[in-house]
Amino acid sequence: MDRQALQERFGLNGESPAIKQVVDKVMQIAKTDITVLLQGESGTGKDVTARAIHSISDRKNADLVIVNCGAIPEGIIESELFGHEKGAFTGAHEARKGYFEKAHNGTIFLDEIADTPKNIQVKLLRVLENGEFFRVGSSKMYTSDVRIIAATNKDLWEEVNEGNFREDLYYRLDTVKIKLPPLRERQEDVIPIFRKFVTEFSSKYDSVFKGFSDEARELLVSYRWPGNVRELKNVAEQLVVLEKSQFIDKERLQKYLKGRQHQGSADNLPVVAANEQKSGEDKEFKSSAAHDPTLIYRALVEMRTDLSDLKKMLAKFLYSSFSSKEIKALPEAMPRDFDPNDISIYTNKQGEESLGVRSMEPEDDEETDEESVDSFFNDDEIPSIEKAEKFLIQQALKKFEGNRRKASQALGVSERTLYRKLDQYELQ
Ligand SMILES: Nc1ncnc2c1ncn2[C@@H]1O[C@H](COP(=O)(O)OP(=O)(O)O)[C@@H](O)[C@H]1O
Ligand SMILES: [Mg+2]
Repeated sequence: MDRQALQERFGLNGESPAIKQVVDKVMQIAKTDITVLLQGESGTGKDVTARAIHSISDRKNADLVIVNCGAIPEGIIESELFGHEKGAFTGAHEARKGYFEKAHNGTIFLDEIADTPKNIQVKLLRVLENGEFFRVGSSKMYTSDVRIIAATNKDLWEEVNEGNFREDLYYRLDTVKIKLPPLRERQEDVIPIFRKFVTEFSSKYDSVFKGFSDEARELLVSYRWPGNVRELKNVAEQLVVLEKSQFIDKERLQKYLKGRQHQGSADNLPVVAANEQKSGEDKEFKSSAAHDPTLIYRALVEMRTDLSDLKKMLAKFLYSSFSSKEIKALPEAMPRDFDPNDISIYTNKQGEESLGVRSMEPEDDEETDEESVDSFFNDDEIPSIEKAEKFLIQQALKKFEGNRRKASQALGVSERTLYRKLDQYELQ
């Protein structure tokens, strides 16, 4: 397969020297079993690249198992990765294979590797070195023949220096590094990739794209694209759908880039600008993205095409917001279409319950009429921040049967702020 064929087949578009280098490296190493580290900001194509490597490798007929190491709660990550024996902990009614066993003869993609808890890093090192691991609750050694692809949006070496990441594991992973440069560093890719997306979406939505003014085109190229190709794709989709048959001038385009002029935060989510904060008393709203419904909403709108970041945040948000007793009732309170197969309740050895993200493999979903994130954010209409905030507040109150103290804690705002918002939205 030549470079162009590979780019077409896997949707790894672009004509910059940087992207050509990426594709060439993929072709060079795909057929080997060498460990690959993909490094790049969110939305630069790490997933696409990992899939391409697996699909042209000799392991293509076995599974590619994708694990988001940053999204799995600490309490269950070991059993998720390495499996567990029956009775290993309360609730372990069956023995269960972990991802490393499922990926036998195939590839395992360890996404967000930098966020792996340190006690698990030791165990990863061992699998990487000789394929050996133990299921939780078992002293029998298992082995698995897997090819490892890891990805991170952080500077892994910096993580080593800060003591967050084991140096030995770093060297083990850093055999072949593929850097996916941010879109702003390969501006010549913007228009060609944008064209591909517009063609794709025009046919999907049976719409016509009338083209750009010169100024609009310049803006498209010079914009910082903090969400990288994912964001470009999202903007292309919105323009095709919402600006059907309109000629796009600079002002029109700006509407779709507005409010996103800021560099991504640590996990590359858009940051709310200081002047967008309603007032100083809302300081608690500035807390981390994992606790901020406004940011969750914003991320959803801006990354509607790819819900994985939102899933992760919501899982973290819910996980850290509810005490163990409250967690039991959580799945009902959660929007049903959210991806329920990813999230479930686990009980550990001490009998504590925790919210977990289950196997990433699709299972048969149950149909349900409950209001869901998907139906709430319907494709044709982007709801206002207010509407989303109101929705989140209602969900929290419903879950806690009207208990405002618990609801405000869960939402990560003060009770005072919650009261004010109840007033503002005329919710009782
Ligand atoms: N070079 C590219 N050409 C076309 N689409 C791309 C390219 N890189 C990424 N994408 C698209 O952008 C989105 C985000 O890519 P993804 O691989 O999930 O990024 P990451 O894993 O780095 O966050 C996906 O929809 C993907 O298809
Ligand atoms: Mg990804």
